[in-house]
Order: sequence, then C-alpha cells, then structure tokens
Amino acid sequence: MSGTLAISDLHVSVGEKPILKGLSLEIRRGEVHALMGPNGSGKSTLGFAIMGHPGYQVTSGRIELDGQNLLAMTPDERARAGLFLAFQRPVAIPGVKMADFLRHAATNVRRPERKEGEELIPMRQFRKELAEKMQQLRIDPEFARRYVNDGFSGGESKRAEILQMAMLRPKFAILDETDSGLDVDAVRLASQSIAEIGGHQMGILIITHHEQLLEYNHPDCTHVMLGGRIVEDGGPELAMELHKHGYDRIRAANPEAAADEEAMTVAGNGKTRGT
Ligand SMILES: Nc1ncnc2c1ncn2[C@@H]1O[C@H](COP(=O)(O)OP(=O)(O)O)[C@@H](O)[C@H]1O
Ligand SMILES: [Mg+2]
Repeated sequence: MSGTLAISDLHVSVGEKPILKGLSLEIRRGEVHALMGPNGSGKSTLGFAIMGHPGYQVTSGRIELDGQNLLAMTPDERARAGLFLAFQRPVAIPGVKMADFLRHAATNVRRPERKEGEELIPMRQFRKELAEKMQQLRIDPEFARRYVNDGFSGGESKRAEILQMAMLRPKFAILDETDSGLDVDAVRLASQSIAEIGGHQMGILIITHHEQLLEYNHPDCTHVMLGGRIVEDGGPELAMELHKHGYDRIRAANPEAAADEEAMTVAGNGKTRGT
C-alpha cells in the first residue's frame, strides 16, 4: 500500500506572528506517529495548517500527499484527497444532525467528484453502516439524532470525532488531543477504537500528552515539538519518558527552541491559549 504525507521545512504564521519555524515530517500509510510538546509549541497549528485552515498562513515550505501539492487545495479538497483532522476543540453545529452531517461528509469523501445537490449514499446502506460503526465504538444510537457536538460532553464530542474518522476512512488522520477531557476508561476505549479503525490502512498522527492513548497504537515514531519546530525524534520510549518526566531535558538540550518558546509565551501575555 502506497501513500505518504510529506511536510518539508514548513513555516506558518497566524496574522503577523510566526508560529511554525521550519518543520519537516513524513508519515507513510500504516504508520502511527506521536506528536508531543508543551502547550503552545505549535502542535494544533500544524494540524490546522495541514488541513488548510484559512487563519494559518503557510509562508514557506511544502505539504504533499502522494506527491500532490496540498497547499494548492481548499480544506474540502484536502478532505476528499484523504485527510482528516479530529479537532482538539470540536465545534457545535446546532440544527445539523450527526447522521445527516456524516452522510454528506462520507458521500463527498468517497465520491470526490460529487457536486452539491447530487445523490448521497443510499439511506439504507448508510444507516446500516453507521449503526455498525456506532456499535463497534460503543456509542449510544441516540447520538445520531443529536445536533453535531451541540451540548455534547467533552468525552462525547471526542467520540463523535472518532466516529467521523470511522465513517470517512481517511488515508491520513491527525488526532489532536483526542484524549483530553476523557477519563481513564474512556481513553482506553478511544485508543482501542482508533487502532480498530485505523488498523494498517491509515497513517495516523496522534497529538497527545499521555502515553495512554498510544496503548493500542504503538508509535513507529515519536516527535517532540518545542518553539514551533520538531527538536527530537524517537520511538515509543520517548513518549513514555516525556509523560513521566516532562520537557525539562528537551528544553535544556535545545536552548534556541526553548528561547522561542519563552518568547511565544511572553507574547501571549504569559499565557498560551492552550489550544
Ligand atoms: N488563532 C490563533 N490566534 C492567535 N494565536 C494563535 C492562534 N493559534 C495559535 N496561536 C498561537 O500559536 C502558538 C502555538 O499554539 P498551538 O498550535 O495551539 O500550540 P499547541 O497545540 O502545541 O498547544 C501559541 O503561542 C498560540 O497562542
Ligand atoms: Mg493544541
């Protein structure tokens, strides 16, 4: 199975403010990569930039999927090309039911040439598939009739993101702190679900502070971000170490990136937005 998501020397700004300062990363389909780093190091910014969020300007560098230039594509074209981002903070869409949202999204991703107004996946087929996936993920069937993320608990909206991933079957998924707000059992279930869905079909970038989400998704590679770049790569043992001991060793070993981190934090009035 072929497929590579390749990011090279990526620089990204928000407004005038440079956030990513030369980041390179390559993920092949079937691989799991863990992305760690202190709050404010730029992890979510990387996810948004890969997906094409208009608030995040790529000022230089490349992002390619199987050699296709993603930077020339709109976010929906990127989704149709096989990318998926599970948001750290999923947004509510009151008035749009989960089931309708998923049926539209799944149709568009599976039939990239579909125009708005053209036929969707047949209702019966879709319902059956959705019911199967919800059962597999131990999600209450009632969920499908609720409005997208509207009044969902933190844990429910994270499960809804995993359900989306299951229905869209992307080539590459970026999971931005899919464990935040979940209790220990829920993280284990999430970890298991991601492994079941992703299997060896997807390339997965897991952004997390805890090694627990990695329990069923052993990273082929762990990357550590600091001050807007990747400062260290390693295997699963690196994720364990950071979870246990924090980032002091990383900061000491990378004074320039640590100084950038300091500056980014100060610029944000001593606080990062923690996104
Ligand atoms: N939309 C935004 N507007 C202003 N600053 C932002 C925005 N998004 C990110 N930043 C800033 O970029 C830096 C990295 O943020 P982020 O990518 O959310 O880090 P992480 O996900 O690693 O915690 C922080 O200093 C943050 O304040
Ligand atoms: Mg973040």
